[in-house]
Amino acid sequence: MFESLAEPKVDAILGLMAAFRADERTDKLDLGVGVYKDPAGKTPVMRAIKTAEARLLDEQDTKSYVSPGGSPAFCEAMIAQVFGAKANTSRIRAVQSVGGSGALRILADLLQETRPEARAWVSDPTWPNHIPLLGAAGLELKRYPYYDAAHSKVDFAAMMAALGEASSGDIVVLHGCCHNPTGADLDRAQWQDVVALLKERELFPLVDLAYQGFGIGLEEDAGPTRLLAEEMDEFVVAASCSKNLGLYRERVGAALIVARNTADATRAHGRLTTVVRANYSMPPDHGANTTERVLTDSALNEEWRSELESMRLRMVGLRKDFSEAMRKRSNSDRFDYISRQQGMFSRLPLDTAQIDRLREEFGIYMVGDGRINVAGLPENDMDRLADAICTVTGTA
Ligand code: LMR
Repeated sequence: MFESLAEPKVDAILGLMAAFRADERTDKLDLGVGVYKDPAGKTPVMRAIKTAEARLLDEQDTKSYVSPGGSPAFCEAMIAQVFGAKANTSRIRAVQSVGGSGALRILADLLQETRPEARAWVSDPTWPNHIPLLGAAGLELKRYPYYDAAHSKVDFAAMMAALGEASSGDIVVLHGCCHNPTGADLDRAQWQDVVALLKERELFPLVDLAYQGFGIGLEEDAGPTRLLAEEMDEFVVAASCSKNLGLYRERVGAALIVARNTADATRAHGRLTTVVRANYSMPPDHGANTTERVLTDSALNEEWRSELESMRLRMVGLRKDFSEAMRKRSNSDRFDYISRQQGMFSRLPLDTAQIDRLREEFGIYMVGDGRINVAGLPENDMDRLADAICTVTGTA
């Protein structure tokens, strides 16, 4: 039976992870998959998480099922984190999910069921897994231009023109902050224009909020999502705890629904839990239980926020150091934009041959579109990286 299956397509990011692991060079450099790294190159378990896990181990007295929607206290804490502690939550509901990806998938299933004829517009470029993930839910995908690679900035006019062509009821996937893969975010005025367009054309936003706290700050990064909540009747958000709580492998996130009113919110939440039941029945507990403890205990929450903020500031510093090293080595300001962008990623203006050469000759791994994980930039070896880039671009 399986002989008829096509060979699987290698995922751009997972394939790179495997190639990096297999590379035996000791001076290899991983700028690929989006995981935070400390100066020693490790992805640490956050201190607040360690404390919460110890408490969980001590206090948990059953492994009985949670419900399809997950822990109500976790969901409430995630609503407060995304929409603010003072938000009016009467029309907002959340479901605990299997990572941010799980949230995207169950929301996509719900939207497909609600609007089978709707098309989902994703930015070009976007996180590569958006395409198979949303496509697998049966959504027809369209792309809107987003990035002006020649000038390393958002191509806002092209984005607005494309979304102006979307049909009423279409879904628009927006990166809530820290755009993946470009690091180029919309500013406040641009978000206001996008919201006005969404309202005028009756489009439905699906916000991917995977990097809250990695851009300008935990509260600030939720600003565009909160603006949508002020302005829009209905939308959904996929939030992740992989990055800001460092819980990658625990797979924890939340699917959030903002509805027109309480009755709609309750109905949509109920349907979403039936989507969960039909997919994997119920979510795992460990990561969400740990998160709930961190978000609801004020001392743990404070410790976590300060650790998250130092991670963010480290990435801001790395951006600055890298763009300065590139300015010095290349004798140009072509890479200055890196210090102005936000979050975990930026895209280098390199072609495929240059990216391949960096990997093969210098052991420097980045995604095939030039995306780098800023947290992987070598704090004490920026010049070696800058030299290698200038060598392959012929600017050394
Ligand atoms: C990334 O973009 O590198 C991360 O979101 C990890 C992944 O699953 O692709």
